[in-house]
Parts: sequence; structure tokens; C-alpha cells
Amino acid sequence: MSAPDFPPIIGVLVSGRGSNLLALYRAIEAGILHARIGIVISSRSDAPALEIAARHGTPTRVIVPRMFASRAEAGQVIIQALQAADAHIVVLAGYKPILDACVIQAFRYRIVNIHPSLLPAFAGGMAPRPQREALEAGVRLSGCTVHFVTEDVDAGPIIAQSAVPVLDDDTPDDIAARVLKEEHKIYSQAIQLFAEGRLKVEGRRVRVLPAKE
Ligand code: GRF
Repeated sequence: MSAPDFPPIIGVLVSGRGSNLLALYRAIEAGILHARIGIVISSRSDAPALEIAARHGTPTRVIVPRMFASRAEAGQVIIQALQAADAHIVVLAGYKPILDACVIQAFRYRIVNIHPSLLPAFAGGMAPRPQREALEAGVRLSGCTVHFVTEDVDAGPIIAQSAVPVLDDDTPDDIAARVLKEEHKIYSQAIQLFAEGRLKVEGRRVRVLPAKE
């Protein structure tokens, strides 16, 4: 995988609250993430994430998959919007719809997602489902996973993970809040590694290459 132009342009796909989007802006402002967010695409017109994007001067688009005849047709519109923004990296930040395969193919190993569990455990669904499943399974550790997006949902090569404890009296929301803090740290770190061209996919594994001198 070749290194993108520097600083690379990121396209972010959202559906809701946008706390991970906000964390990316903060990481950029803090010099932790050397990138520019060129477009934010939302699957919902009422997503608070859209306001966060607008506040940061980022162009936004609302592309609602169910308004199209097929998921593939919506996918083509998403591809066009990302390409028009010159996006090299696509970041799913609380994006709910399943991306059509045409988008995944157009940006092969350039789309990343964050999931609130230690994958491959508790794949699928959004908070609080994975956290509830973790509680029900009695695990002592929960966490989050940054991974490349492939056609298999939540099963692409893993880039980064962070674990948090599951405490005896936790509710799913307690775990979600603890995990979210880690999400906000590791997502921008993982994207920065990608931006530096340091992620090499080898089968199901991702090798992190040493920093260039
Ligand atoms: C997070 O729980 C993330 O792990 C999942 O969707 C949620 C997004 O939250 N993919 P936010 O919109 O970034 O606040």
C-alpha cells in the first residue's frame, strides 16, 4: 500500500452523535493526527455530527441509503462524493448502514471502522448491544477495535485495540462510556499510522511498520 499525499484528506461517514468525529478534529488541532477532514457524509439529516462538521468548516453531504433503489446505487453516490473531495482515507465514525461492496472495492484497505468491543468478540450492532453482550458473557475485559473494513462486517484486519475492565456493578452504559474514552484515543492514533503509510495488510493481520527516519 503506497503512502498517501501528505497531509492526506479524510472522508468521514457518520450517522449520529459524532463524538469520534469531534475527537478527530481535536487530534488534528493537537498535532496528533496530520490530516484534513475534507468531507463528512451522514446517512441521516438529523445527525448531530453534521453540526460538528459544519462548526469546523467541513463540507457535509446527507446521503440516505434507503432513498435509493438499491444499496449499490447509494454506494455509487458515496464513492462520487468521496472522490470529489479527494478523500484518500475513509473513516466510519458511528456510521450505521452496511456499506455496499462497491464502496469497499473502490477504497480497498482505505476504509477504517471503530467497533466498541474487542473483536472478534461481540461483532455487529451499535452501542449498547456489544456492551450488553459483553456483560451477559461475563467477560472481565471489554474495549474497542479499529479495523479495516472488508465485505465481512466487523471482521476486517485489526489495526489497533484497547481494553478496559468490566466491573461487577457495570451497566452496558458504564462500559460504553469507559470504552468511548479509549475510542477517542486510539482512532486518531491508528489513522495517523495509516496516514504515514505504516500499515501493511498481510492476510488477516496488519503489520505496523517502523516510523520513517
Ligand atoms: C461508537 O460506539 C463507535 O464505537 C461505534 O459507533 C459509536 C459512534 O459514536 N462504531 P459517536 O457518534 O462517534 O459518538
